[in-house]
Parts: sequence; structure tokens; C-alpha cells
Amino acid sequence: MLEIQTTMSIKCIGLLTSGGDSPGMNAAIRAVTRTAIFNKIRVKAIYRGYNGLITGEIKEFQTQDVSNIIQQGGTILKTARSEEFRTIEGMQKAYDNLKKEEIDGLVVIGGDGTFTGARIFAQQFNIPIVGIPGTIDNDLFGTDFTIGYDTALNTIINAVDKIRDTANSHERLFFIEVMGRDAGFLALNGAVASGAESAIIPEMVTNFDQLEKLIANGFRKSKNSSIVLVAEGDTIDGGAVGLANRVNKEYPQYNVRVTILGHIQRGGSPTASDRILASRMGVAAVDALLDGQRNIMIGIVNNEIVYVPFTKAIKDDKPVDKDNSLMSALRILSI
Ligand code: F6P
Repeated sequence: MLEIQTTMSIKCIGLLTSGGDSPGMNAAIRAVTRTAIFNKIRVKAIYRGYNGLITGEIKEFQTQDVSNIIQQGGTILKTARSEEFRTIEGMQKAYDNLKKEEIDGLVVIGGDGTFTGARIFAQQFNIPIVGIPGTIDNDLFGTDFTIGYDTALNTIINAVDKIRDTANSHERLFFIEVMGRDAGFLALNGAVASGAESAIIPEMVTNFDQLEKLIANGFRKSKNSSIVLVAEGDTIDGGAVGLANRVNKEYPQYNVRVTILGHIQRGGSPTASDRILASRMGVAAVDALLDGQRNIMIGIVNNEIVYVPFTKAIKDDKPVDKDNSLMSALRILSI
């Protein structure tokens, strides 16, 4: 009985993307829109993240508004990191627009910044909000994968494969810096998947002498190059540039180059995994709102949908390599 009453109370869902874009966000936008319409719920697209909620950049979507977008990278809703939404005045304007547009529940797609804003907004103004994890960083607790991570990983290995050709030809050592903010998921898994000699990640302390041994290995026998993936969050070692400078100074025998992959990792058509993940999460987000859930992120753990409170998703630690097995595999496989 209670469930039916809650279900009836949501008549119009607002949908936005916020923070760094990630491939697969469009697939999630499509899934949320069509699931809402399937359930006879109106859906309103909010442009430019929380900024659009503040300025009222809002448009009602029909199923055809999300046609032909599942394969597109980026987000058709645009995205932003809103400073004004951090203020109570900004949130009040956002709330006024929600009321004006008759939006009674929100689905927000993004990463930890997006959910931090959502959590505070939901608490202050009593709005039901459900989050969908969209970030290439894969750094949210409570879900095995975030939307965009798999595509970014594939972009990384394609780039590393190309760099390997030139590294081999010139017998060089490459430090390749990848994104991930404070997390090493992209660097560690990218290194394993591309056959790199090593990965430097913020979660683990770098032993420089051990690293040199691994690099030396790269030039032994049949191998004549060495590639080290460095997570951008590895600030202790100074990232790829800092490490390259140190190697240049202490081991001048190496011919060192640095590549910073940068925003190429955020673009491109999403992989099948990301499209499926986004589609499942989009459907689950609308179902969750209609079931009366609020202040939760949709996660998928062991292939099952789970609800994770925003506070846990943002604050709890998601281990990059719980038992060190991945790092150990990387070491074994790079001999
Ligand atoms: O969170 C996604 C991410 O791409 C991080 O990996 C990176 O540190 C950051 O966003 C870059 O942000 P911006 O696009 O604002 O430079």
C-alpha cells in the first residue's frame, strides 16, 4: 500500500549530467528518458548540470529526443561543475525552478562532486534524488564499475599499443600519464591490459630501485622498450614528468620520453560494456525513484543492481587492488 502511494507521488523526473563527462552518459540519458515515459512519467532534461537547474535551462523530453545517441560519447545535456550550486542561494534558485517545472524527483549522472551536491540538496529541500555513477575514474564505492571507465581503459590500451611501436623502434623508456583523479584504477588495469612494465598509482608507495629493475627488464632479451603507466594522482612522485626527471638524473643510460594522454581518455563512442551498464543503471534509477528510494546511487555489484547511500558512495574507500593480486600479476607478467 505504502509503495503504491509513493509510486503515485512521482509524476515528473528531472535529469541532468554533471562533473566530467564520460562515454556512456548518453546511453544512461536514453535509458532514464525511455523508462520514465514507459512508466507514464514525464521527463525533463536539465542542461549544463546544476547550473541549468539554477538558470532554468530545462526542456521536456520525448522518446525521439534520445534517438541515435546510445553510440555517442560526451553528454547531449552538456555538463558543468557548478560553483553557485554550492551556495544555499544557488540551491534555493534550483529548488524554485524544480517547483516551477513540477519536477518531483531527480536523476543525476556524474561522480563524487555530483553526488555531494545531490546529497546536500536532497537533505536541505527534501527532494528525492537518485544518482547514476558516470565517471571514467571508477572511484565510487558500491559499484564494481562506473559508466565510462571501460571505454577510457580501451582508449588507454589503444594509445599504449601505438606508443609501444615507437618505443620499440627507438629503444626508449616511456612514462605515460593517465587520468583517474586520486585513484589508480585506470593506470593499474591499463598497465595489465597493455602489457606495460609497471604502474605507479597513488594507492601504493613507489619503490624507486624496484622500478628501475622493472625498467631494465623492459630492455632485456627480446624486449627493447619499457613502458610505465603513471596515475595523475601520484603526486608524491611528481607524476610522469617527475618520474622521468628522476630517471634522467639517476639513470642517464635510458632514453626517456613522457606522454600525457589527457582528455582523449574522456571521449569516444562507448564500448558495449559501458552501453549495457548505462542502460541497466538508467532503468534501475527510474525504478528506484518510483519505489520511493531517495539519496542513493545505483550500483552494480557481482552483476546485481544495488542501492548505495550517497554518503557511502562518496566517502567509503574503494580498493584498487584489495589483495595486491593485480600489481603482483603485473610484476610477474612483465619479466
Ligand atoms: O573525473 C574525471 C576526470 O577526467 C579526472 O580523471 C580528471 O582528473 C578530471 O576529470 C579532469 O577534469 P577537467 O576536465 O575539469 O580538467
